Amino acid sequence: MIERTLDSYLALIEDYLDNSIDKSCYDEEIVADAMRYSLQNGGKRIRPVLVLEFCRLCGGDVKKALPFAAAIEMIHTYSLIHDDLPCMDDDDMRRGKPSCHKKFGEEYALLAGDGLLTLAFEMLTKAELSDSQKVSAVKALSLHAGYQGMIGGQTVDLMSEGKAVSLDRLKTMDNLKTGKLINCAALLGCIAANADAEKTEHALIFTGAVGLAFQIVDDILDVTSTEEKLGKPIGSDSEKEKSTYVSLLGIEKSKEYAEELTGEAVNALSYFGDDAEFLKNLALKLLERDN
Ligand code: IPE
Ligand code: IPE
Ligand code: MG
Ligand code: MG
Ligand code: MG
Repeated sequence: MIERTLDSYLALIEDYLDNSIDKSCYDEEIVADAMRYSLQNGGKRIRPVLVLEFCRLCGGDVKKALPFAAAIEMIHTYSLIHDDLPCMDDDDMRRGKPSCHKKFGEEYALLAGDGLLTLAFEMLTKAELSDSQKVSAVKALSLHAGYQGMIGGQTVDLMSEGKAVSLDRLKTMDNLKTGKLINCAALLGCIAANADAEKTEHALIFTGAVGLAFQIVDDILDVTSTEEKLGKPIGSDSEKEKSTYVSLLGIEKSKEYAEELTGEAVNALSYFGDDAEFLKNLALKLLERDN
């Protein structure tokens, strides 16, 4: 059941993303090619799926939320391109292929990230929704992706390399670098559906817990999975002496915490009743994932 709905969302998302980057208006296609290379195929598309499902759950038209879904996937993809650069995590594989800078060079990877970041905001304006919904979406995406959100988390991540950090700081870091965009996915779905404050609040409780669990599982997989399954290098965190849940608590305690958070997320869904079955299964699937 979850697979069928998931597949139909993925088909809509892939189709939309495939057509979202036009040809350059100058001779060189290199940056547009680099943007397409990183954006198309390979990602799990969790954030755009959350946009579409929260839109549906709150009574909106899923197709009208597609530009919002594409926008958040563009922001996420740009964050991965920059995250892999030698000056950041210095990782050579992403989504089962050489990282953007390995394929196109650092300077064009930097520009491809910049290109996706700006294109994301153009996407928001393309939605067939009211101007006030689009303004809300611009505000939500800038706040969650920017220095008070995802970029803030990436800053704390870099500053915490090689240091013993407190559990509180780790939580702040992960809530910012990963949780904020996952929260924003729910918010964009709610905005697209004109959801009321109460629905939005429950959506954010769900994604708050799912987002933190998602980064903890990512930290665990960096130790327990394989490059073939993950599509990105393993052991990258310990190599950079990153502060992660695994480095602080160990694998078992980290797993327990991710399970606890997933339980909290599922509890928050009771507000939506049986209609939240897909989200419940998605949260469990993300906990059990091996990539
Ligand atoms: C990886 O995100 C980076 C994190 C925030 C943990 P995903 O695991 O969603 O990566 P893709 O989009 O599937 O490649
Ligand atoms: C990345 O966290 C979070 C981002 C905002 C990109 P990681 O550095 O752990 O992500 P991966 O493991 O490289 O995908
Ligand atoms: Mg990183
Ligand atoms: Mg990384
Ligand atoms: Mg990681």
